[in-house]
Amino acid sequence: MADRQRMNIFLDSLYRGNSALLENMEKEAHRADVPVIRKGTQSVMRMLLALKKPVEVLEIGTAVGFSAVFILQNSDAHVTTIENYAPRIAAAKENFRRAGVENRVTFLTGDAQNILPGLAGSYDFVFMDAAKGQYSTFLPQVMRLLSPGGVLVTDNVLQEGEILESHYAVERRNRTIYKRMREYLREITEDPRLVTAVIETGDGMAVSVKTGMEPDRAKPEESRNAAPVTSGTIGAAACVKHVDGSDTADSV
Ligand SMILES: C[S@@+](CC[C@H](N)C(=O)[O-])C[C@H]1O[C@@H](n2cnc3c(N)ncnc32)[C@H](O)[C@@H]1O
Repeated sequence: MADRQRMNIFLDSLYRGNSALLENMEKEAHRADVPVIRKGTQSVMRMLLALKKPVEVLEIGTAVGFSAVFILQNSDAHVTTIENYAPRIAAAKENFRRAGVENRVTFLTGDAQNILPGLAGSYDFVFMDAAKGQYSTFLPQVMRLLSPGGVLVTDNVLQEGEILESHYAVERRNRTIYKRMREYLREITEDPRLVTAVIETGDGMAVSVKTGMEPDRAKPEESRNAAPVTSGTIGAAACVKHVDGSDTADSV
């Protein structure tokens, strides 16, 4: 794949750089073997943030906070981000402090599977970047929380190209994730409420827009009422509250 490597190097040379702090965070993450969004993914994210101008962003998978700080430095949004791995939680808190963004971040610590059902309000941009095998589990909650017109970005969907292999060509230990990612890609490309493009950049990213269309889209035209497309305006306070009224935000 020499051509692919050369193409990536060429494309990386075209990307606009980040702030000194982000460059440092990225280097530190690479040294510590912490995964962070790749240059190509950053480039598409930066463009999407400029286009969408989100107000409330939900991120599933903070790691050490690189992508959260990236989003904050490339938009005026507030970010709610979820992480469950203690050493990374501590590092992310420190990075949010270093970046001076604590007042624009709600950091929820724990398993997203437990946290998502408790969130209320709506988000106009969701970044899904946690355990790949769990994306389908998170999807119903993400759809509930994503506002009409909202953008869902999912990272790592092509799994270094392994996604296109036959089931038998995939190493046995990777087969569950492979199967689940294929199912997830089917879900987001076939769901009538979403318009999705799968982009071959970074480790593969899927960009979906929630149209507001309900799943009865398949019905004949005359039997459908116009889908209610409501404004994407968001109540900031509601976004950080849990359904039961509690607020488990961890101060950063
Ligand atoms: C690929 S890393 C996130 C990278 C980060 N978005 C960035 O680009 O800077 C995925 C993170 O999701 C976390 N994670 C995985 N499954 C999770 C879950 N169910 N709930 C919360 N965090 C989870 C992992 O601990 C890991 O730190």
